Amino acid sequence: MPETSPIKWHLAHTSWFFEQFLLLQYWPTYKPFRAGYAFLFNSYYDSVGARVERAHRNLLSRPPLSEVHEYRNHVTHAVLDFFSELSEESSLIQSVLPVLVLGMHHEQQHQELILTDIKFNFFCNPLLPAYHTPGAQSDSAVRVDAEFPGDDPWLSLPGGIFSVGTRLDSDRDSADDSFSFDNETPQHRFFLEPFLIQSRKVTNREYIEFIEDGGYENASLWLSDGWDKRKKERWCAPLYWRKEGSSYSAFTLSGVRPLGLDEPVIHISHYEADAYARWRGARLPTEFEWEVAARQTPIQGVFLESERFHPGSPSSFWGGAWEWTSSAYLPFPGYRPPSGAFGEYNGKFMSNQMVLRGGSCATPQSHIRATYRNFFQPESRWQFTGLRLAKSRS
Ligand SMILES: [Fe+2]
Repeated sequence: MPETSPIKWHLAHTSWFFEQFLLLQYWPTYKPFRAGYAFLFNSYYDSVGARVERAHRNLLSRPPLSEVHEYRNHVTHAVLDFFSELSEESSLIQSVLPVLVLGMHHEQQHQELILTDIKFNFFCNPLLPAYHTPGAQSDSAVRVDAEFPGDDPWLSLPGGIFSVGTRLDSDRDSADDSFSFDNETPQHRFFLEPFLIQSRKVTNREYIEFIEDGGYENASLWLSDGWDKRKKERWCAPLYWRKEGSSYSAFTLSGVRPLGLDEPVIHISHYEADAYARWRGARLPTEFEWEVAARQTPIQGVFLESERFHPGSPSSFWGGAWEWTSSAYLPFPGYRPPSGAFGEYNGKFMSNQMVLRGGSCATPQSHIRATYRNFFQPESRWQFTGLRLAKSRS
């Protein structure tokens, strides 16, 4: 799959980010570790030079992993040396600290991609290897029972004008050093009509009802692009599912396991999420409906740190599985991409992608916040992607 990368590419690329944007920019005596790495490990920054096409990253036979680790150590120690030589009074601090922090958040994003890429890669291997052997604690967590909150599966929220997104650095007080990506800015007001949103994510049990009711064969439920994709790819269930007799199993990072019926459905495209919602007589929430509802609950759930690498309970807005929204990935009113190469980080992808919210079991918890906007093409299925439903309250 063109979207996945070899793991050693992720390892080298995240160090290249610090080499390219911090060391080479701010340390005049720094010499690149090896000529050619800039070409191999530049992801998509056209403003800094030529690069390997993404679909060709899987041809990366050299350098060997041992040299990638050597590269990482070299860059890490160079960054440490650079900061140890920098005085706190240096005028460079204001410029380099944001790059250092951005580089760490960038590496967290790749930590998640490493897991989702390993999962897809192992799934392509007929031996279906397990990446991870769950311990007793995490094993029970993988098969966690549903914890449906209360009797009412719907939360009812009033309409009104809400403040969404994150303030620009220039509008924050000096004590606020929290991080956000440029695509979460600027904070702005948004009017919402009253709405209902499910108090939990859609489960595998519920999704099977859609499958067995012919949801994948009913064109009237599908967006046109999704229907075409479904036919072309012969989708009849989420990615990684198998059916034997009347029971379903799914490939996980712990190998093939019986499908957890009360776990959140995952590895569905935006098109499948949208068709499921239509079949239920509901719709996907907009990204701002999701943000307003999720803000009412603490950021707790199954994140990377749990080392389960699989969602558990569907009851949290946070973690477990990303949730597709009905919102196209577009700039907020007044958004301005950063100047220079970092303008390519997020802004240039604001076309033909949909927003996901909330984080997954492969996302570091410290990476997530209420305004975080993930985005993927609507046909993407290899991330831990699920949904919850919304309805308008008329
Ligand atoms: Fe990257």
